[in-house]
Amino acid sequence: MPNSKAKTLETLLSEERLFPPSKQFSAQANANDFDIYKKAANDPEAFWASFASQLVWRKKWDKILEWNRPDAKWFVGGKLNITESCLDVHVASDRRHKAAFIWEGEPGDRRILTYYELYRAVCKFANALKKLGVEKGDRVAIYMPMIPELPIALLACARIGAVHSVVFGGFSPESLRERINDAGAKLLITADGGWRRGRIIPLKHDADIALEGCPTIRDVIVFKRGDFPVHITEGRDHWWHRLVDGAAPDCEPEIMDAEDPLFTLYTSGTTGKPKGILHTIGGYLTGVYATTKLVFDMKPQDLFWCTADIGWVTGHSYVVYGPLACGVTQLIYEGAPDWPDKNRFWKLIEDYGVTIFYTAPTAIRSFMRWGVKWPKMHNLSSLRLLGSVGEPINPEAWMWYQEHIGGDNCPIVDTWWQTETGHIMIAPLPGLIPTKPGSATKAFPGISAAVFDEQGNEIVEGGGFLGITKPWPGMARTIWGDHERFVKTYWSKWPHAYFPADGVKVDQDGYLWLLGRVDDVMLVAGHNLSTMEVESALVDHQMVAEAAVVGIQHEIKGQAPIAFVTLKGGIEASNDLAAQLKEHVAQKIGNIARPEQIIFSSDLPKTRSGKIMRRLLRDIATGKVLGDTTTLADPSVVEELKMKYEED
Ligand code: WT7
Repeated sequence: MPNSKAKTLETLLSEERLFPPSKQFSAQANANDFDIYKKAANDPEAFWASFASQLVWRKKWDKILEWNRPDAKWFVGGKLNITESCLDVHVASDRRHKAAFIWEGEPGDRRILTYYELYRAVCKFANALKKLGVEKGDRVAIYMPMIPELPIALLACARIGAVHSVVFGGFSPESLRERINDAGAKLLITADGGWRRGRIIPLKHDADIALEGCPTIRDVIVFKRGDFPVHITEGRDHWWHRLVDGAAPDCEPEIMDAEDPLFTLYTSGTTGKPKGILHTIGGYLTGVYATTKLVFDMKPQDLFWCTADIGWVTGHSYVVYGPLACGVTQLIYEGAPDWPDKNRFWKLIEDYGVTIFYTAPTAIRSFMRWGVKWPKMHNLSSLRLLGSVGEPINPEAWMWYQEHIGGDNCPIVDTWWQTETGHIMIAPLPGLIPTKPGSATKAFPGISAAVFDEQGNEIVEGGGFLGITKPWPGMARTIWGDHERFVKTYWSKWPHAYFPADGVKVDQDGYLWLLGRVDDVMLVAGHNLSTMEVESALVDHQMVAEAAVVGIQHEIKGQAPIAFVTLKGGIEASNDLAAQLKEHVAQKIGNIARPEQIIFSSDLPKTRSGKIMRRLLRDIATGKVLGDTTTLADPSVVEELKMKYEED
């Protein structure tokens, strides 16, 4: 029963600004009729099937969905190879010689791959994999920099029915080893190295360390990105260029079942053993295709730039499969946004004429900290749509993004989803939904998202937990090798909904405001407060660049918020400023949220994907021994923070 009184999360921030899309944008948008929501709600299966029908199938499905909670089968009986929708179909069309990827390396080297060239490269490499004995169902680990060979490697696996398992190139040898062993991978694809901030990331060297403890790996393929020194183990290691030299440029695609596995990807997770999230082919392709087309309003003439590394699910879904299925041109860039200068991204947008730009709030806050002078050096008027993903975007960052990157002329799509959901779940359709800064707005058509209290009662206005009540095509099918954990983690909280473990509030207009992970909620004087809202109030202060809030034990209140704060360039930390910031939070969202203490720090501990590791900050704040820090961007930050905290 809907119950508007059963609040489970206090929601303090209120944001009233509303930005409807311009008439011009709406008129040209791929989705420009509100009926789409109604139609999809009335018959979600037919809605998804209408997108599946636009893709390439060798045999049509017999049934759209078979649902035995929590086990879903989409497009039952359907046969396909995902690469035919991403490559062959374009090669057979007038997109044959259209650029699929425009790539720029960090040192400034450039390459363009047309659909035809990409097709040939994928086929050649697929033939090379076959020659090394890789077969349908085998797991292949991939540990590479952001170069065209990375998507080529994924697609080549898919071509022959092998299951790819990409490990982000920034991960340590130990993380790589753990993931290879969990997946039982037979082959590893890597490179001699890649460029990052003018330095070489020694991928092959790190892979060699990892492989000291990987008994299932039989062969290693090494792409030569630079002239970086590597050790070659005879019999095990093979140079990519030698393998593809002379390989046939055609490769019959392996015909797969819609429910055969496509990939596993390990969640960045800030706690526990990484989970190998498994996605299957037909539903996943349908979901990424539909969302790319409608949320990013993808058109044949667009140049799409998703800044995520393919090592994350964002890169799988919105660099590889979604955009390629749409047949668009994409920009990919190898390196850091501040190399050689802090205008690199803006220069890329101007030089190539990027039209749609998709990045993360953590990046946007860095851009803000560096200052508007950098984007101001460039003409960004080619942009027509902006996207955000990865964590809640605070209204301050949202407004900055809109004004300084979008020139007040681009809708912003704040897209909520997870590795586990496979594709975007909550986001505006940019031609239809007026946006509110900080809100991901509404569920994508065909997705049933709602807010629940602990017991699973629906909350019609107020805060609670996000739940998804109907199956969707891209949903994870299991955790590799541990179905029980899958059921327990996502499907056991309530009998009627998937549990993503995110806090959310729903406002009077039915807009959804994501509040961060439920592990990050504090219980202050009997009220559940989201750390994200306190952080958002802090970064609203003109001197603050970034903030992370954690709850620590408090004699009277139970828990109290403590804030770790990074200041904008040139601003000095002081006790006065700390007092000002506490007051600012109290003013902005109420006394209950007033931080007990402010700790200034030049940086914050983040995972490689840019998520603040609150668990670590909590440990620091409570003086506990530090947990595993191998997924940290810069472990020394923690040491600095720990010292600061102890000094206070
Ligand atoms: C978690 C999933 C989805 C690709 C990148 C991250 C948070 C993600 C948003 C957003 C608020 C967001 C959630 C989610 N998150 N996007 N637009 N607004 N929070 O994938 O590593 O699986 O992380 O990221 O907490 O559960 P992931």
